Amino acid sequence: MNPFADPALAANYEAWYQAAGCRADQLEKALLAWLLTRFPLAGTLLEVGCGSGHFTRWAGEKTLQATGLDISLPMIAEAERLDSVPYVLGDALALPFADNTFDLVTLITTLEFVSEPIPVLEESLRVAEQGLILGVLNRQSVLGWQRRRAGGPVWGAACFFTPTEMAQLVRRAANRAVEITWRTTLWPCWQGWLPLPWGGFIGMAVHWR
Ligand SMILES: C[S@@+](CC[C@H](N)C(=O)[O-])C[C@H]1O[C@@H](n2cnc3c(N)ncnc32)[C@H](O)[C@@H]1O
Repeated sequence: MNPFADPALAANYEAWYQAAGCRADQLEKALLAWLLTRFPLAGTLLEVGCGSGHFTRWAGEKTLQATGLDISLPMIAEAERLDSVPYVLGDALALPFADNTFDLVTLITTLEFVSEPIPVLEESLRVAEQGLILGVLNRQSVLGWQRRRAGGPVWGAACFFTPTEMAQLVRRAANRAVEITWRTTLWPCWQGWLPLPWGGFIGMAVHWR
């Protein structure tokens, strides 16, 4: 059961970014923007598991032509209420797009909630011409520990990864050689990101070699 299918959760999802999640959000976007600079020729982006469209809208503001996809109808309805970016109701396990449709595919805090991360990564790689940008909560961090401890309908349904585990999953899903770059955010210790394996939020870029 996808906890994000709950209309009440969908209606309140964006509020977290405006309040408690504001600083973490700024830092995560700064790391994602840095990872985006590794794809200077990218013009189109698909966010898989876009939720309320928070990062899809942000990518659109960065001059990318962005599209969001999510399996939750209430989340898609909320995203459509908030802006005019194109949104698609669909499953990350069977993306309704031809091979190489988008320059980039991004999954932000979505792999934690899918039943089969490797097939989801295979599908994302299939529709991405240049590569992927991933954002994942780090199991090996204080933030990951806090979320697991909080449990409940959302965090109790999540499966967390470390940077090494994420890189292994990506290499297993890719059918050719890939180059992987990752950093983690270190807030509240430091307002930046470094290649340290214990920061809370992992940002990872995956390029074809
Ligand atoms: C934690 S939310 C992240 C939303 C957004 N990326 C963000 O960071 O604000 C995870 C999202 O993944 C979606 N999701 C889970 N399984 C999915 C699947 N199989 N296909 C598409 N979306 C899925 C959920 O519906 C939910 O909206």
